[in-house]
Amino acid sequence: MMLRGKKILLIISGGIAAYKALDLLRQLKKQGAQVRCILTRGGSQFITPMSVASLSEREVHMDLWSLKDETEMGHIRLSREADLILVAPASANLIAQMAYGLAEDLASTTLLASNRPVMIAPAMNPMMWENAATRENIETLEKRGIQMIGPSSGEMACGETGQGRMSEPENIVKAVIHHFQADKPLAGKTALVTSGPTHEPIDPVRFIGNRSSGKQGHAIARALADAGSAVTLISGPVNIPDPEGVETIQVQTAQEMLEACQNALPADIAICAAAVADWRVENAARHKIKKGKDLAPPALTLIQNPDILREIASHPTKRPALVIGFAAETENLEQNARAKLQKKGCDWIIANNVGMEDIFGAQENHVYLITHKNIQEWPKASKENIARDLGLEITNYFLNNEFETRKTG
Ligand code: CTP
Repeated sequence: MMLRGKKILLIISGGIAAYKALDLLRQLKKQGAQVRCILTRGGSQFITPMSVASLSEREVHMDLWSLKDETEMGHIRLSREADLILVAPASANLIAQMAYGLAEDLASTTLLASNRPVMIAPAMNPMMWENAATRENIETLEKRGIQMIGPSSGEMACGETGQGRMSEPENIVKAVIHHFQADKPLAGKTALVTSGPTHEPIDPVRFIGNRSSGKQGHAIARALADAGSAVTLISGPVNIPDPEGVETIQVQTAQEMLEACQNALPADIAICAAAVADWRVENAARHKIKKGKDLAPPALTLIQNPDILREIASHPTKRPALVIGFAAETENLEQNARAKLQKKGCDWIIANNVGMEDIFGAQENHVYLITHKNIQEWPKASKENIARDLGLEITNYFLNNEFETRKTG
């Protein structure tokens, strides 16, 4: 799942190679990518919108002038929401439109309106590929930083032989993975992050919750994704947006959070930043509990929730290589955090001294990183900076470990 959480806009233009785009779409999804598709009019001569929709599990975008599409997912949003735009196959015509900045249909308009990285897999007849016009257009696109995948040489569907065949889907997928891994120290790693509070229902309208904002957990998920890791963020109810480049799963209760975590394993890294409710109401009412003069206030029986961090850290077969928990302490920070390391079976604890400052909802955080070997006090910093520094510590951990394994192995 090397593309977990990555949003890819796949533009399928006209050409016999469009049939290979279906396999490409399947393989991108298998790697965990979320794929939206634009099928040009030319593309739809070779494959049906229905097959693209079925494989992508989303509707296919085809028409610039579709009122429905423009209100639900306009071409501007389509062009900006993706982490990468992949054009495969890229026909000579679409390449020319791109080179000249034409906006004639949904595909060319989206490409012109986009500020996202673009990769193209050209496919055309060898004479068209060799034509001076195409040569110049390709040169123009390369100068603008558009990445080319192929084309390869061989026998073409039209019977001619030469360069112009679209690269095989597995090679395109490899190039896409490589794109996401370049300069990314955690590339190839997978991470699971929990964030936010949990809400434990009392009845359908009331719940037990806490004041966790999710800011620190969400910032960590984003920082790990920026460092190249594929990240699944499992978040309780929060009022902040889903971080970019991260697969976010929304849950309400501790039990749902545990289940989502178990489904997200295996992962190389697990970071439990959620403020999970320690207890839930044993028999949450199915209907709203009524109050009244003659009705006694309800008595709530609480039972213990699962300890998600401990469950992950003690998983018999899928324990992540690095498991990190949080601790909110008001006194004896180091001693209590060390006890928590043991009790939870995790590798590191990020401890907050909550006695001194109100951390919930705040922009800044003051933490200590406690491992089995040492303790570091980090200067007070924004939650984003703490997340970035934690990302660096995690990168160092894997660099050192992999170095040690190479030395001894
Ligand atoms: N945690 C969890 N599942 C729970 C409870 C806690 O995953 N049911 C995780 C939190 O995400 C956090 C760590 O465990 O990483 C916090 O442990 P916890 O025992 O709740 O400690 P504190 O909140 O610090 O509180 P206390 O000292 O009262 O134990």
